[in-house]
Amino acid sequence: MNLDDFNFYQKLLIDHSGLSLTQDKTYLLTTRLDPVARSMEFATLDEFTRNLRAKLDPRTISLVVQAMATKETSFFRDSLPFTHLKNNILPALVKKNAATKTIRIWSAACSTGQEPYSIAMVAREFLQAHPGWAVQITATDIADDALMQAQEGLYTHFDIQRGLTMKLILDHFTMENTKWRVQDGLRQMIRFAKFNLLKPMESMGRFDVIFCRNVLIYFDTPTKKLVLDRLAERLQPDGYLLLGACESSIGLNTKLRLCPDMSGVHMAAIPVAAVQKENAK
Ligand SMILES: C[S@@+](CC[C@H](N)C(=O)[O-])C[C@H]1O[C@@H](n2cnc3c(N)ncnc32)[C@H](O)[C@@H]1O
Repeated sequence: MNLDDFNFYQKLLIDHSGLSLTQDKTYLLTTRLDPVARSMEFATLDEFTRNLRAKLDPRTISLVVQAMATKETSFFRDSLPFTHLKNNILPALVKKNAATKTIRIWSAACSTGQEPYSIAMVAREFLQAHPGWAVQITATDIADDALMQAQEGLYTHFDIQRGLTMKLILDHFTMENTKWRVQDGLRQMIRFAKFNLLKPMESMGRFDVIFCRNVLIYFDTPTKKLVLDRLAERLQPDGYLLLGACESSIGLNTKLRLCPDMSGVHMAAIPVAAVQKENAK
């Protein structure tokens, strides 16, 4: 791929997804976009690129973003965030949300669904111990193919053995031919939708907990800050934001503060009055 085409894709990806590509990743463009070009019946990637540069078709751009997004994930990835959710966050929310008995959680870059299903497994255990409560889980991603798999909830043996105990597998999955399907009860706890983290977030409403893990690492610094500030504004007062193990808001001067007693967990530093005013609308 020549430098001009690389620059074109670099700008396209930043503008439409925030994904920041350095020039040493040219090989990644070629290996991931070649199959897209062929699936659209272009003889070569060069021809596909010429066509896209001449006409910026939104559907094709979406396919390019989808192909370039890294979707690596697993059930209970890094385990600690889910331990915090179970042992610290949900118990704190029982006191805080006693009036509404409702907890809203957003998995904001959910990939193929392992993260929201892990949240749902923790939530289900919580609900068994707290009858009368509701846990609403929203799971979003920019990539249609990942979202489709998430919604379908069908996983290979390799997928489910990454992070799940035999008990969790038997409690929440049913064997279907050689694969494992998430049981309806668990799937119905989650609302899946397409959402680009670069877009304004007001339409999402407010959440008690947001998981936004292992996606900010692909963004440049100004985009990271923008997304973190917008996520902070989507949290209830003292709501919790959980980032990936190598992600942090430190040094970005965001509307977030680190949660002193839970490593890797952030809280919104937005004036409570501002949030209450919006909640009252
Ligand atoms: C590495 S996966 C992380 C999945 C999961 N959160 C985890 O930690 O295991 C990153 C996900 O971010 C999604 N993504 C990338 N850019 C995005 C954007 N601008 N808006 C929403 N999702 C995005 C990708 O499609 C991909 O599914």
